Amino acid sequence: MSSDLEYRVQFSIFIFQVLFLSIMVLCSISCTPKDPRFQQYFVEGEQLYLKNCSNCHQRDGTGLGRVYPPLTKSDFMDNHFDKVACLIKKGSSGPLTVNGVVYVQAMPGVLSLTELEIAEISTYIYNSWGHEKGLVEVKLVNQSLQSCMND
Ligand code: HEC
Repeated sequence: MSSDLEYRVQFSIFIFQVLFLSIMVLCSISCTPKDPRFQQYFVEGEQLYLKNCSNCHQRDGTGLGRVYPPLTKSDFMDNHFDKVACLIKKGSSGPLTVNGVVYVQAMPGVLSLTELEIAEISTYIYNSWGHEKGLVEVKLVNQSLQSCMND
C-alpha cells in the first residue's frame, strides 16, 4: 500500500513538473516583449527601399561592383550607424570606404523622406542580409539628423 501511495505522490509531482515546464516554455515564446512595431517598420521599410534604394544597391543589397557599395556586409554600416540617417536624407558626395574599397560616386539623398520613413528604411536594411539590429526608433533618427540638418 505504501509503495502505491508513494507512486501516486511521485506521479503527481511529475504531472506538476510537466505543467510547470509547459507554462515556462509557452511563456518564453509568447511573453517575450517583442516590439509590435517591428514588423510594420520592416514591411514599410522594404517598400521604401525598393522605391528609393534598390536601383543602385540592388534588391538583395549586394551593390554593383566598384560603383555602388554593398549593404549586405558593410563595415561602414556597422561602424557608422549614427551617420546612416543623414546619408539617406542628404546623400553623400564621396569618397567613402566600405570593406576596404573606395567608392567615389555620389549618392543622392531623398530630402522628402520623413523621420518615420527613414526609421523604417533603417529598420529594413539593419535587419536584412544578416544584420540583426532590431527596431530603429524615430527618436534615434531624429538625434542623428540633428548633426547634419543645419549644414
Ligand atoms: C544613385 C544610386 C544610389 C541610390 C539611389 C542610393 N544609394 Fe546608397 N550609396 C550610393 C553610393 C555611390 C554610395 C557611396 C557614396 C560615396 O562614395 O560617398 C552609397 C552609400 C551608401 C551607404 C554607406 C556605404 C555602405 O555600403 O554601407 C549606405 C548605408 C547606403 N548607401 C544606403 C542607401 C539607402 C538606404 C538608399 C535609399 C534610401 C540609398 N543608399 C540610395 C548609391 C546610391
